[in-house]
Amino acid sequence: MPHPRVGIADLSIATTHYMIDHATLARHHGVDVAKYHRGIGQDAMSVPAPDEDIVTLAAAAAAPVLERHGTSALRTVLLATETGVDQSKAAGLYLHPLLRLPHTTRVVELKQACYAATAGLQFAAGLIARDPAHQVLVIATDIARYDTGTPAEATQGAASAAILVTADPGIAELESVTGVHSSHVMDFWRPNHRTTPVVDGKLSITTYLDATAHAYADYRRHGGRDLDDFAAFCYHQPFTAMAYKAHRHLLGTHGQAPSHDDLDTALAASTHYNRAVGNSYTASLYLALASLLDHRDELGGRHVGMLSYGSGCVAEFFCATVVPGYRDHLRATAHDHAVTARKPLAYDDYRSLHEFRIPADAGRHNVPEHTAGAFRLAAVEGHERIYETR
Ligand code: COA
Repeated sequence: MPHPRVGIADLSIATTHYMIDHATLARHHGVDVAKYHRGIGQDAMSVPAPDEDIVTLAAAAAAPVLERHGTSALRTVLLATETGVDQSKAAGLYLHPLLRLPHTTRVVELKQACYAATAGLQFAAGLIARDPAHQVLVIATDIARYDTGTPAEATQGAASAAILVTADPGIAELESVTGVHSSHVMDFWRPNHRTTPVVDGKLSITTYLDATAHAYADYRRHGGRDLDDFAAFCYHQPFTAMAYKAHRHLLGTHGQAPSHDDLDTALAASTHYNRAVGNSYTASLYLALASLLDHRDELGGRHVGMLSYGSGCVAEFFCATVVPGYRDHLRATAHDHAVTARKPLAYDDYRSLHEFRIPADAGRHNVPEHTAGAFRLAAVEGHERIYETR
């Protein structure tokens, strides 16, 4: 039986209520702002309000997708995060009342650092190959929070991406050939007792570069496309300069020495949202794809090389072939609004939000109201998270 065409029918991103720009951060840290703007390629980072978390971010990204497509064919919700709110219950279940999800869906949470949403896409493609009437909602949602005063602090951020995977998609087809690479590396991890990760930043960069080359080599061994076949590339962007490092490395392993302009042609359009939002872990690669599609209008029928990386580590290289007419399905105005509508924080307010914690006892703790969006975390009572829809 021939495989159906499977891929992305809708892609919607959301981010937080607040942001802080790197010029403010640089001033308070006594750092040359060029290190942030040019060195790591970041202008600003999203900062969650007390009443935002991965569930409210997921709901904000997914609601417009369900509004457009309905839920009658939705059979599976795969939520990928490395900022889980519970060790047992899938965060996607909190979305049931917020998004009026049908009870006839399987809901599960996926974890492997920044990579897990890509596993979600591949699992979705498998389910749809079995039953092309089946639709799968993959949601990537994360808050990247590091200890203040560490090199990683400037690479914080938060965002979500909701990706509807269907047969005969309107935006991009996911080709079935993929290349994968995994190995046991301690470059970044977060033990259960910690609220921030343990990071060996330099090791994470070299591991990412190695994993990229290995994943692409595996992709080629399985019949994948030549590098010259791709009109653009999207990389996981913990900071946008990482996409440039990774692409230069990948081309270098194939004997090419690209100029900065060559790299810009392949990558620049994919970096707009991540430059402003910062690291969003599982969502980062899909913010890159949204940015590319929203900012280039000649991609119909062309191939985009996608590189997903999650520390620890797993990497996957795959191809998304853009469907002619894709621009009719995009949400560029809403995405731009999500980024530009954020409220800038003064440095001291950023620091107090960074320190904000909901007490961990069983009492009722109302969460201060900061946000104005459709979904908020209203309270925690008896260890239960209570959300509100406006
Ligand atoms: N003007 C322009 N560029 C400057 C600069 C200046 N004044 N000062 C420094 N830079 C450049 C550096 O040369 C470097 O670029 P390069 O990597 O191309 O050489 C870049 O800015 C970063 O500087 P560096 O001193 O290496 O940064 P750092 O030690 O402060 O940490 C990370 C950078 C990424 C390791 C750190 O932010 C981190 O740990 N992040 C979290 C983990 C992560 O994101 N890993 C990525 C893979 S998943």
